[in-house]
Amino acid sequence: MRAAFYEKLGAARDVLHVTEMPDPIPGPGEVRVRVHASGVNPSDVKMRLGTGSAANEYPRIIPHSDGAGIVDAVGAGVPAARIGERVWLWNARWKRAFGTAADFVALPAEQAVPLPDNIDFATGACLGIPALTAWQAVETDGGVAGGEWVLVAGGAGSVGHYAIQMARARGARVIATVSSPAKAAHAAAAGAEIVIDRRAEDVVATVKSATGGKGVARVIEVDFAGNVAWLPQVVADYGLVVVYGSSKREAEVSFAASILGNVGYRFFIVYNQPPALRRRALAALTDMLRAGGLQHSIAATFPLAEIAVAHETVEAGRQIGNVVVEIAP
Ligand SMILES: NC(=O)c1ccc[n+]([C@@H]2O[C@H](COP(=O)([O-])OP(=O)(O)OC[C@H]3O[C@@H](n4cnc5c(N)ncnc54)[C@H](OP(=O)(O)O)[C@@H]3O)[C@@H](O)[C@H]2O)c1
Repeated sequence: MRAAFYEKLGAARDVLHVTEMPDPIPGPGEVRVRVHASGVNPSDVKMRLGTGSAANEYPRIIPHSDGAGIVDAVGAGVPAARIGERVWLWNARWKRAFGTAADFVALPAEQAVPLPDNIDFATGACLGIPALTAWQAVETDGGVAGGEWVLVAGGAGSVGHYAIQMARARGARVIATVSSPAKAAHAAAAGAEIVIDRRAEDVVATVKSATGGKGVARVIEVDFAGNVAWLPQVVADYGLVVVYGSSKREAEVSFAASILGNVGYRFFIVYNQPPALRRRALAALTDMLRAGGLQHSIAATFPLAEIAVAHETVEAGRQIGNVVVEIAP
């Protein structure tokens, strides 16, 4: 099979190569998937650079956790009826060396989730990290309640765009931050009632005025280190800051402002979703996909030979939506 790989950490075009490798053979409990599309996430870039949360403990790595394709073989214990099933994949590159940037990937059968017929492979390749993270951010700790205000920081980001929609689906009112008119339009189209240009406007003042001075019940935070200085000011009493991203690995939290505001902080990493929560997430997302109401956003697709450019695009962070490597038409 064709596969992209790296054997050392570094810049995309220095370390990422495409080569021929043996087709994987599915082991017991595994399926083999003919990959059609492979999603590129910021964590794939961080893993390649060695700045991510996961250790790079393998001599050769095929990148990317997310993907979609068709099951073409099954290992012992997996029903043969799964052969031919359209699927999307999660955690293909978490605690495993070989991810989805290849013609085939073999992985535990539960990590290949049936992809509804109304969803194409490119979209299916953007669900594992972005959609499941957004779902957990909205649902964790009792979830968002109808009528509550939620602030989605980075509402035009891959995760933020889904988080706006999922919070709205629960009946919440959403304020989103962005940094450009194009991103503002994207967040508004997803359902954000108020969109704040965080570079041009006063986020704290706007949130306070929109919420009658109370603040939001929940912040869904993409840059904890960047925004923690003012987060306690926008959270309502006993509100929650749900953190899934940060521009720096360390951040200083004000004890005084947090304790006086009864602010809760919930950090999570979607790779480590507890199994019961994962099952709920997969069921809920499948329902949403089948219902057809979710807006998806593919910013760019690249052929496998241009995987380095795909990584550079994610690294630059200027795209609106997901970046996908198309493996098969
Ligand atoms: N914990 C987890 O399991 C998990 C899962 C998925 C992603 N992540 C992490 O979350 C981050 C975003 O991932 P993504 O795929 O959504 O990336 P993305 O599509 O590139 O979106 C990131 C968004 O963050 C916004 N942003 C950047 N700095 C900001 C700041 N200081 N305040 C508010 N918004 C800011 C940007 O929007 P503006 O330019 O409009 O501000 C951009 O739209 C990455 O660091 C990723 O590694 C973590």
